[in-house]
Amino acid sequence: MVDDDRSRILAADLHDADVVVESSLRPRSLDEYIGQREVKANLSILLTAARARGEAADHVLLYGPPGLGKTTLATIIARELDVNVRYTSGPAVERPGDLAAVLTSLEERDVLFIDEIHRLNRAVEEILYPAMEDYALDVMIGKGPSARSLRLSLKPFTVVGATTRAGRISSPLRDRFGATYRLDFYEEVELTDIVERSARILGVEIDGPAALAIARRGRGTPRIVNRLLKRVRDHAEVHGDGQAMRLLEIDDAGLDSTDRKLLASIIQKFASGPVGVAALAAVLSEEVETIEDVYEPFLLRLGFLDRTPQGRVATEGARTHLAGLGYEIPPPRRAEPDIVPLWEEPGSSSGGT
Ligand SMILES: Nc1ncnc2c1ncn2[C@@H]1O[C@H](COP(=O)(O)OP(=O)(O)OP(=O)(O)O)[C@@H](O)[C@H]1O
Ligand SMILES: [Mg+2]
Repeated sequence: MVDDDRSRILAADLHDADVVVESSLRPRSLDEYIGQREVKANLSILLTAARARGEAADHVLLYGPPGLGKTTLATIIARELDVNVRYTSGPAVERPGDLAAVLTSLEERDVLFIDEIHRLNRAVEEILYPAMEDYALDVMIGKGPSARSLRLSLKPFTVVGATTRAGRISSPLRDRFGATYRLDFYEEVELTDIVERSARILGVEIDGPAALAIARRGRGTPRIVNRLLKRVRDHAEVHGDGQAMRLLEIDDAGLDSTDRKLLASIIQKFASGPVGVAALAAVLSEEVETIEDVYEPFLLRLGFLDRTPQGRVATEGARTHLAGLGYEIPPPRRAEPDIVPLWEEPGSSSGGT
């Protein structure tokens, strides 16, 4: 069991055991949902207004890195509106007819959750435009010259879309959302609260310092702290949180072995960069998308990585961190960004006219 635990800590896809735990740990109301204060405040206004009018709520787009609580929020939205929620995802809806079938089955004011909405294909997306805008479904009848389009009306409903990459959503689709909320990494205190709440639900005894130790290593991500909590529980024979964390190969900045490998590659193989993400992906045998969605956001936030037009750059902070862990640190290609002088200093030796 222990072998694949490590890779699973960051994995975006869920295994069966995770699904069971995740759903038991999932907050069920906005009040139970920890952190994301601004999102919650705005969402609460939107939901209260919709309830007061007795209408379907505005379509809501949620974006942010994996595991921050998008699916959870979608479930909460439906619950707060006291309606049903249907779950689907961009890759799961292959043909326009699949989406049409889902849309016509919705009850009034229901929530349709579309995960990974940036992966909807074009033909399906086009069904969604009039559905979101006018609660209308345009169907083509017949073929060739006699073909005509028929407009069916749908019951008012709410789309909650989720994506890890807002930039990938086409602008016509983005424009059809009344509200867009960006979920951000959680603060340490919030994560500590989440660990303590999860521990209560799972019946794990944990003291304040241990909860904080887990929170510190949770990459600002509820899903990850919950997994760490489970691993620590699984290794209950390991005394002291430090030891449990060493077992998971998570260092005191919260980096795991792939994070360190990524930074070490930039520093050692590419003289701290800049290096293109495709080259980096090749060296690490990871998908570009995984690097961009799973690893980079946290490293950027720690200030260990910079994105420049020329590529990725490992920062002084990253070099110091890895040096502290005993990595060999060759000098960077360039310590400072090039400063291009606007004119030659008078009398400068290298004047070239
Ligand atoms: N605000 C929160 N308070 C407490 N627990 C949370 C919160 N947000 C998320 N969680 C926990 O983290 C787990 C992951 O959340 P969720 O599945 O909603 O993430 P997600 O953003 O949909 O991730 P993905 O992008 O991978 O689909 C949930 O099972 C839940 O237990
Ligand atoms: Mg999700």
